[in-house]
Amino acid sequence: MTSELAKGLDGILVTESEMSYVDGEIGRLIYRGFDIEDLAEQATYEEVVYLLWYGDLPSEAELEHFSSRLAEERVLHQDVLATLERLAEADEEPMSALRTATSMLSAYDPEASYTTGEIDLSREKGMRILAKVPTILASFHAYREGREPLDPDPSRSLAGDFLRMLSGESGSSLAGETFDMSLILHADHGMNASTFTSIVIGSTMADLYASVTGGIGALSGPLHGGANQEVIRMFRDLEDSEHGPVEWVKEMQKRGERVPGFGHRVYRVKDPRAHILEAKAVELAEEGAEGRYIGYAQAIEEYLTESGLVEKGIAPNVDFYSGVVYDQLGIPFDLYTPIFAMSRTAGWIGHVIEYQEDNRLIRPRARYVGPKDVEFVPIEQR
Ligand code: CMC
Repeated sequence: MTSELAKGLDGILVTESEMSYVDGEIGRLIYRGFDIEDLAEQATYEEVVYLLWYGDLPSEAELEHFSSRLAEERVLHQDVLATLERLAEADEEPMSALRTATSMLSAYDPEASYTTGEIDLSREKGMRILAKVPTILASFHAYREGREPLDPDPSRSLAGDFLRMLSGESGSSLAGETFDMSLILHADHGMNASTFTSIVIGSTMADLYASVTGGIGALSGPLHGGANQEVIRMFRDLEDSEHGPVEWVKEMQKRGERVPGFGHRVYRVKDPRAHILEAKAVELAEEGAEGRYIGYAQAIEEYLTESGLVEKGIAPNVDFYSGVVYDQLGIPFDLYTPIFAMSRTAGWIGHVIEYQEDNRLIRPRARYVGPKDVEFVPIEQR
């Protein structure tokens, strides 16, 4: 047994997976062998979820069946809606509301409580969860805006229906396609903090609801999914200041602060998803969408490239451009990380199912560096 300490588990292989692979040296991401660029351009989110969970692209009939099963599962139990209303009244953070409501979903699934590892049942439960996350978010947002949530419309795609429920409007087809593409880009990303969390929970054969709830918790932090909101927070502060973007970042660097949306544990070059989202943001701006943040983002990237940070391997990651695109789509800023979770639910579920096919309880160890042989002193003598 190795006694080497791997802080942050850097470079440690914890399992084998056929789902997705990140080549951080050249900036390549594949899902089941398919390049992310091809999937982003040609597939739909439902098709990609099918690919991740079943291992192959679906036929037309398979996709039709899978998509309609997902669409049927979008409706929330009234108790979940009532809880979302309470959480909105309490001014809960959307990511925390999502975590609470996702956990609560299990109460209304007769098959929840633990998992048998039986793959078809897990996929069924997976569909129930994945389909409801968009409704949770849109309903929570409706409540905090003081309106009644809209019912899901099963004739629409998951992405299109989410945008409709969120804003109360149908939206343009470009917005729907862009959002669907963004869901594809965030659906999976090899091993990472939230996926690992989901797998750790799944490895105890706990229920899938527990795994997804744990994944949401892990994703919420600013070093992981929370970075997309941090980027926009930076742009907003910048907007309110008298500084230009380059000056702003120089000041951040002087203070020794990290630039949100830059750097990655695996990528040494610009994240391929950032390339795709940047191009989309430019396209949206050309189509008339408000383009204020794309200018900031590109100016900061250009400066950090020239200053040598990018060459050192601290390059733009997906979060640097996702918020820019969501802002152009008119999505409220504090929903960016929950939307990341909405998409990544596909990856968490897929990885848990895959892991449980050949399950081994994940049980690492810590090196004990505390005292030994301390004599116990009864409380009245302390
Ligand atoms: N801006 C400036 N310098 C940075 C940054 C940054 N964003 N990120 C890393 N560095 C520097 C860091 O200061 C350190 O420098 P030095 O060696 O001189 O002390 C060096 O790069 C290595 O940093 P590290 O913390 O050992 O690297 P890591 O692999 O642990 O960091 C990271 C990965 C994502 C936590 C980090 O890059 C970071 O905090 N980035 C900002 C937050 C962010 O954008 N997170 C989203 C990650 S991608 C999407 C996701 O996974 O959800």
